[in-house]
Amino acid sequence: MHIAIIMDGNGRWANRQGLPRHEGHRAGAVKVREITEECAKRRLEQLTLYCLSSENWKRPKTELDFLMQLLKEYIVSERPTMMHHNVRLSVIGQRSGIPDDVLAEMDKSAAMTADNTGIRLCLAINYGSRGEITEAVRKIVSEKIPAEKIDEKCVSQHLYTATMPDPDLLIRTAGEMRLSNYLLWQSSYSEIWVTEKCWPEFGAPLLEEALQAYSKRTRKYGGLSDAERQAFNR
Ligand code: IPE
Ligand code: IPE
Ligand code: MG
Repeated sequence: MHIAIIMDGNGRWANRQGLPRHEGHRAGAVKVREITEECAKRRLEQLTLYCLSSENWKRPKTELDFLMQLLKEYIVSERPTMMHHNVRLSVIGQRSGIPDDVLAEMDKSAAMTADNTGIRLCLAINYGSRGEITEAVRKIVSEKIPAEKIDEKCVSQHLYTATMPDPDLLIRTAGEMRLSNYLLWQSSYSEIWVTEKCWPEFGAPLLEEALQAYSKRTRKYGGLSDAERQAFNR
């Protein structure tokens, strides 16, 4: 099973506590560790976390600088935990715009965990779906793939997520009912679950609630459920 999360509401949470926005991001990073460990224990195949969107560059430089520093700290400090839990780290998104020192640490952690066989932790950093699809089109054209050879599989294989399964469950915190340019292609048939709780309030009990809700969904992929099919055949 693959869970993708839009970790939203750090700013609102901080605001409610009377704290500056960056304290919300710091509290959010703690939750990243907690949820990764929880998902690793549950033996999930993949966890994909939206850390920074390509649109988040519109934010004040001080907030972005803080996020980059936090990201670097997280990636470095989590290495032992990642190794302990057999986590394989991947990063998706555009590299340009990310400071070189952050890229270097990202690459180091990805290389260090490359042979781990447990959960794949995929961080979406400077990620935007429209940009990803546009880049895929550009790659397909530059590889001179003939029009009749371009099918959905071909497009999938040119996305950042080429080697990854599609998310089964997409969780968004802080109540917003939108995708904000996250995994648009990959989430075509993902089950969506939204909680009013902000990301710093998320934890194992809410993950359990999301998984419970997911287990009650019927995934039909445009077809009929087993029950509907049986009724039809009677
Ligand atoms: C999500 O929290 C974290 C990032 C987008 C980096 P926000 O910072 O968007 O928090 P709100 O939405 O302002 O509460
Ligand atoms: C989505 O949250 C991006 C991340 C969680 C990293 P935003 O806070 O940027 O989304 P909008 O602006 O409310 O759509
Ligand atoms: Mg937000």
